[in-house]
Amino acid sequence: MITQEHHNVPQGLAADAHGRAIPAHVAIIMDGNGRWAQARRQPRKEGHRAGTGNVRRVIQHLAKSGVKHVTLFAFSTENWERPQEEVSFLMELVREVIRSEVAELHRQNVRVRHLGTLDRLAREFRHEIEEAVGLTVRNTGMTLNVAFNYGGRDEIVRAVRRILADGVPEEDVDEALFRRYLYCPELPDPDLVIRTGGEFRISNFLLWQSAYSEFYSTPTHWPDFGPEDVDRALEAYARRQRRFGKIE
Ligand code: IPE
Ligand code: IPE
Ligand code: MG
Repeated sequence: MITQEHHNVPQGLAADAHGRAIPAHVAIIMDGNGRWAQARRQPRKEGHRAGTGNVRRVIQHLAKSGVKHVTLFAFSTENWERPQEEVSFLMELVREVIRSEVAELHRQNVRVRHLGTLDRLAREFRHEIEEAVGLTVRNTGMTLNVAFNYGGRDEIVRAVRRILADGVPEEDVDEALFRRYLYCPELPDPDLVIRTGGEFRISNFLLWQSAYSEFYSTPTHWPDFGPEDVDRALEAYARRQRRFGKIE
């Protein structure tokens, strides 16, 4: 049923069978793994393991709901400040996920992309990321963007450096040109940013791209964030009125 509440579907944008707006791009700050484990008197590691196990069901549900692009914040440039043991564990977990999930994602026509820098990552790890990205580069289904060793400020600084290195004349620098220097220029901006774990902050995620994203925060920790929680977030999104600075 089309209700008065669901009025954020500008012409040409995705909507479901009921006329409700569907975000084309959902970005998720997967937070709360440590607290999830703590609440169970388990080591933080177990929270990360459970969080990793949750990725597949959430992606599948988003795909089923008609979402075309999903970006997951997996490791920030600031997360290097954590104890070395936790950092190594997180690296190892991501490598395990690449090994166990990429073939299936490829079969499902999913394009995997990486947002962030490969600097500081072990050489074999870098190759594994590059291989996953290369293998799926021609896939035309959903895009799954993994923000790993990603920082929004870092992305912007790197863009500025490359613009300068290219000798771009000052008068050519505008928002459209700047975007071309981001990690994934052709990826549309996120329509919806979901943060699990209860905080209301962006923590250096997609600073440029989230200028007009709708923000949704839930106290649910990432390992517990299931399909019903995805639905709640999508329902909340459908009720938002996006104005982009204009008056309706
Ligand atoms: C998110 O969970 C995963 C990463 C940041 C890698 P946290 O590890 O931040 O969990 P909390 O916030 O301590 O509960
Ligand atoms: C954000 O979570 C980063 C990821 C989910 C990868 P953090 O746990 O690092 O964020 P803060 O420290 O609470 O801001
Ligand atoms: Mg956290």
